[in-house]
This record gives sequence, structure tokens and C-alpha cells, in this order.
Amino acid sequence: HQYQKGVKQLVENGRIHTLPQRYILPASDRPIITTSEEQDDDSNFVGNPKIELPIIDFSELIGPNRPQALQSLAHACQHYGFFQLVNHGISEEVIRKMKDVMGRFFNQAYEERAKHMTSDMKAAVRYGTSFSQNKDSVFCWRDFLKLLCHPLSHYLPHWPQSPMDLREVAATYAEETNNLFLKLMEAILESLGIKEEEEDEDEDDNNNNIMKKLEEGGSQMMVANLYPPCPEPDLTLGMPPHSDYGLLTLLLQDEEVEGLQIQFQGKWLTVKPISNAFVVNVGDHLEIFSNGIYKSVLHRVLVNARKSRTSVASLHSLPFNCTVKPSLKLINDANPKRYKDTDFHTFLAYVSSREPKGKDFLHSRK
Ligand code: SIN
Ligand code: FE2
Repeated sequence: HQYQKGVKQLVENGRIHTLPQRYILPASDRPIITTSEEQDDDSNFVGNPKIELPIIDFSELIGPNRPQALQSLAHACQHYGFFQLVNHGISEEVIRKMKDVMGRFFNQAYEERAKHMTSDMKAAVRYGTSFSQNKDSVFCWRDFLKLLCHPLSHYLPHWPQSPMDLREVAATYAEETNNLFLKLMEAILESLGIKEEEEDEDEDDNNNNIMKKLEEGGSQMMVANLYPPCPEPDLTLGMPPHSDYGLLTLLLQDEEVEGLQIQFQGKWLTVKPISNAFVVNVGDHLEIFSNGIYKSVLHRVLVNARKSRTSVASLHSLPFNCTVKPSLKLINDANPKRYKDTDFHTFLAYVSSREPKGKDFLHSRK
């Protein structure tokens, strides 16, 4: 069907003035946004409530102020599940090139993009639309390119060869974000009071020596998102409310066009983009690993009437063959084990098969 070809193709072929039925959410699921007439020149949602996320300065985290920075990190992970990471050491050039090459990927002819369409959820490369394309009864206003990354030597030969520089640029970006993720995870473990050298060498316990497992090769998936201008942005979403499955997600938001909202104290609040910062969020696997001390938080994406929006997310977690379970170090009388053990494949199968219903799967693991 035409909707399976994606939103970009629909918009380019159709001269769409009203939103097709397929994308119209039931009234209770629609976002409350200011109408396009009320949007400012940048098509931002001037009337929408904003949230100032905690700012974590990575240079503080690796400098003499580490103890205070760890406290801020713990506070952010506990109370927001999200933070903005600044001074992270990934150069503006690496970021700019990644955004640029993904923009050029989406700007190619449909036939070029469609080469990577597949229903195989485990494919090294997957171009698609909506959220869970095969399941969604209402489609989301989003096209995406997903790239599996680790081990890079295994996946790289499957990545798109057009644009010509995509492989090189995305590989550099994948490596740099993975290195940053590893440093962040070290800090997160320390903020949870887990020191690596204290971890047991118990071969049976997958979550012991988590750093060792991640350094040997965790899983990483990069997702480039495109949200074309939408004729009726108050009737649909770019992404439905969901939490991310992994340990941490490092997200590059569009610098000019807002769209990401997180749920905070029962309200949907818009995250204001900060230039060159990563929006980092706690995923379900970190909620489980931390035995509920850190929480994955629901988020969603608004689309807008006039501008195209893009973002690049990098999802990091344990190797795919691991069991996800609370750290033994964080289970005690005061905080008994809160989640059942789940193997990663069950988690992924669920994530890719569902109509998203918030964090229902995580709750079923309690
Ligand atoms: C997400 O990956 O959940 C949000 C992506 C975006 O801000 O576009
Ligand atoms: Fe997400």
C-alpha cells in the first residue's frame, strides 16, 4: 500500500492538504498543540509548555569535580530519566557530517531509499516508516533508517553505499558515540555505587562485569529519523509515547525544529534543543539493571506544519545474547528484586511487534 512507502513519498507524490485517515489518532491520543497559525517563524510550538532538562557537563564528569558531577548525574537519572550532555568531546564536525549525510540519504529518490526496506527486524539496515510498520493501526508521521553497528566490521558492508560517504561518516559517528556511551556507563555505575573492581567474577551472572561485556562489544543501533511537514499536526504524532529498550540513548535533536516531548509529572513537555548537545535518556534495560533506581521515561515526537525535522538516535545496550536483570549489588532488604530476568531477544521481539502502550512490557516484568 502507498502508506508503506513512507511519509516522504506520500508528501512528494500527493499534494496532501489534509491528513489521510491512516494517520489520524483517536482523540484521546492526540497531542494538544498550538495550531500552525500560532506557530512562530520557525514553526515551533510557542504555546507549548517546555522543560529545562538537567545539564550534565561531561568535562566535569572526567575532571576533578567528578564527585559533584556524579551527584547531578544520579539526580537527573532518578528524577527526569533524561539530561542534556554538553562538552562531551565529540567534535562539531563529526556531528554536522552525520546530520548532513543522513539528510542527503533521505533526499535521494524513493527507489534508492526503498532498496533498504525489509520486514526483517534483525536486518543490518532497515528503511521504514511509522513506528512498528507491520502492526500500527494508525501510522506515525515518520520515516527512518536503522543501522546496526557492533561489531562494525560485520555490519558495515551491509550499510547503504549511497550517498557515497554514508558508510565512512556513520562509522566514525558510531565509534565516537559508543566510546562516549562507555564513559557515561562507567559514570552511571559509579553513581549507583557500583565499582567495577568490586563486581563479582561470577560467570553465571550476566550483569556482573557489565563494563567488560560492553567494552567487548555491546549492541548499538543508530536510527535517523525524518518527519516531513504535516498538514494537520494536531491529529497525529511523529512517534507515539514509548520508552527506549536499551541502557542509554544518545540523541541528536534537530537544532532548529522542536518536536521531542517527555512525560514529566504527568504532563507532556517539550525539550528545547541545545546546539551540539546530546539528549541522553535512561532506557528500560538500565531501569531493570538499576533495580528501579533509575527510570526509563515515556517520550513522543510532535510534527509540525511547515518544516521538516530530523534527528539521529544511537541506542546502546548489552550484547544481544545477554539476559537483562537487576544487578545483585542493588538488590537488598530495603530494595528487593523488582524485575524478572528477561532475555534480550524476548525484549526486542516485543518492542518490534507491539502497538506501543507505554511501558506495559516493563511492568509485566515486575
Ligand atoms: C526518539 O528517538 O524517541 C525521539 C527522536 C526524536 O527526537 O526525533
Ligand atoms: Fe525513543
